[in-house]
Amino acid sequence: MDIKQSICAPSILSADFTAMDRAIKTAESAGAQWLHLDVMDGQFVPEITFGTKMVADINRKTELFLDVHLMVENPERLISAMVQAGADAITFHSEAVIHSHRLIQEIKNNNVLCGLSIVPSTPVSSITELLSDVDLVLVMSVNPGYGGQKLIPSCVEKIRLLDSIRKEKNLDFKLSVDGGVNRDTVSLVKKAGTDIFVAGSAFFNSKNPIDELRILESI
Ligand code: DX5
Ligand code: ZN
Repeated sequence: MDIKQSICAPSILSADFTAMDRAIKTAESAGAQWLHLDVMDGQFVPEITFGTKMVADINRKTELFLDVHLMVENPERLISAMVQAGADAITFHSEAVIHSHRLIQEIKNNNVLCGLSIVPSTPVSSITELLSDVDLVLVMSVNPGYGGQKLIPSCVEKIRLLDSIRKEKNLDFKLSVDGGVNRDTVSLVKKAGTDIFVAGSAFFNSKNPIDELRILESI
């Protein structure tokens, strides 16, 4: 994973689910490298989105890096199917799993990147022991489940803290932030150390997503 400056991962949660082809093309034309796919099970979060079928269908249509964000209980049940479906990175929530260390190894054994995510109320200290094992840490900057929410400022502190731990311990995980990232907040999260910022509504609800991605990446 060679990321030199912060990149935008458009989240299809804010796209029209009846026009996924168009959403993929829009992300591709904008020059996105990653596409963020939010899987919700109606248990870990109230809403339900989609499962492996959608990931497989999207994978058939694009070369974009598929960044699968599992907002589900029992994520271990989905790993092999998500790998088969073509996920390039699989991120699960530390809050949903007791044996996170084991699940991280299992995901990495499938030759996909492994991400670990924390919701706004979960402290960084709860995942410190796992930071040398993961490829990606996804800091949720809103309470998961919905697009279009406002970024919670205390979450930016967590990115800063993770970045300083990474430097201090010379670790090589990437830092991703998800929720409420737009023109007003992107510089804040970038300065805190973000490598990948997810943008759902800021990208897909924009009148001109192609310009929007360029602007968000260049701010
Ligand atoms: C929310 C999802 C996000 C969502 C972000 O639970 O994990 O990926 O798409 O949407 P915005 O960018 O609109 O906050
Ligand atoms: Zn997400």
